[in-house]
Amino acid sequence: MTSLDGKTVFVTGGAGFIGSAVVRYLLDRTEANVVNIVKLTYAANLTSIPQAAGHKRYMLAKVDICSRMQLRALFERHQPDAVMNLAAESHVDRSIDAPGEFIRTNIVGTFTLLQEALRHWRSIEPSRRATFRLLHVSTDEVYGSLGSEGLFTETARYEPSSPYSASKASSDHLVRAWWKTYGLPIIVTNCSNNYGPFHFPEKLIPHMIIKALADEQLPIYGDGQNIRDWLFVEDHASALALVIERGCIGETYNIGGRSERTNLTVVEAICDLLDRLEPSRNGSRRRLISFVEDRQGHDRRYALDTSKIEQELGWRARETFETGMAKTVRWYLENRAWWQEIIERGYDGNRIGLGRPRAGAAGIAP
Ligand code: NAD
Ligand code: TYD
Repeated sequence: MTSLDGKTVFVTGGAGFIGSAVVRYLLDRTEANVVNIVKLTYAANLTSIPQAAGHKRYMLAKVDICSRMQLRALFERHQPDAVMNLAAESHVDRSIDAPGEFIRTNIVGTFTLLQEALRHWRSIEPSRRATFRLLHVSTDEVYGSLGSEGLFTETARYEPSSPYSASKASSDHLVRAWWKTYGLPIIVTNCSNNYGPFHFPEKLIPHMIIKALADEQLPIYGDGQNIRDWLFVEDHASALALVIERGCIGETYNIGGRSERTNLTVVEAICDLLDRLEPSRNGSRRRLISFVEDRQGHDRRYALDTSKIEQELGWRARETFETGMAKTVRWYLENRAWWQEIIERGYDGNRIGLGRPRAGAAGIAP
């Protein structure tokens, strides 16, 4: 039994990497009714929710969160008890080349969702108004870059570096303002880098797995010493469910894996796992590692203090970096059709984010 049983939950962006993990979690581990609100962008993949087909507690709404009237119709029709906002443009490199869509979806979309959620919240009866929640899912990148020491707490100053993180920072500010000004019951979470099944191949870990399988160069930006804190996506989904059930209104919770690794270490781990699970006749995949031009504005280190969610809500990640990575690499080996379809529909794996027209680098063999 969970307190979400029988409730109606709007999940925005539920065809993306983390949103689909949240939808799978809600369908498998609760009795909630899920309305998945998605614009079918390049990052959407409805096959990431295999259990959705014919599921009686699942509904898909192909709606852009910038569309006020379509959102309003959904709120009026479904009368949700909670909203989990995961719709976003999420890739830093894309935000460097083309920031406009990040401003539109991440800022204007969040604003539009807040306005329609507020309208709905004001219209419902007081007992439901008291339990309604809007959970805004954000990133550790809003805090900017750390030196070699220290961790970001929930009160760290916002100092975003990229168009992506700046747009997420803006949306976090809007969400808190709708609570302080209008009383809308919101919660914000800031999470570290996720990895796991159904991850779009443009992000570091799937990018490297797929390139390594194609025996292509593994392009590490700069010196490979940038550090990220890695969290298995299903641990993030469980944290978000806990926050929406038991988190305090107006609060922020950091979510992270306590698994800091340099990018080079991550890529070496991928090479070694692939070598073990599917040896290459050309020898160790580490020979494919190559250092390429750095990302502009590349944050050096992200690391979170996650003691608040651990102590106040009792959450802990189940997977370590080693167990999560082993599951992930195995998943990409066993689910080639999922990512090959993305390549077939046009994703070429070439370098982006250099802030100039795309270079004609070699593509990824399916
Ligand atoms: P994703 O890019 O994989 O998926 C985003 C989803 O939102 C896709 O389904 C996309 O189609 C949808 N979407 C985009 N624009 C939309 C619009 N205007 N209206 C409706 N839907 C739209 O992203 P993700 O990695 O799943 O990230 C989800 C959220 O979590 C984002 O807010 C992101 O900032 C945050 N986050 C991500 C990570 C990470 O490591 N991936 C870490 C921390 C926080
Ligand atoms: P990414 O997965 O894009 O996540 P984020 O930028 O949001 O942290 O990148 C993770 C790290 O890996 C980041 O430091 C950039 C680096 N990176 C590479 O070195 N090579 C690559 O091909 C990619 C996609 C990322």
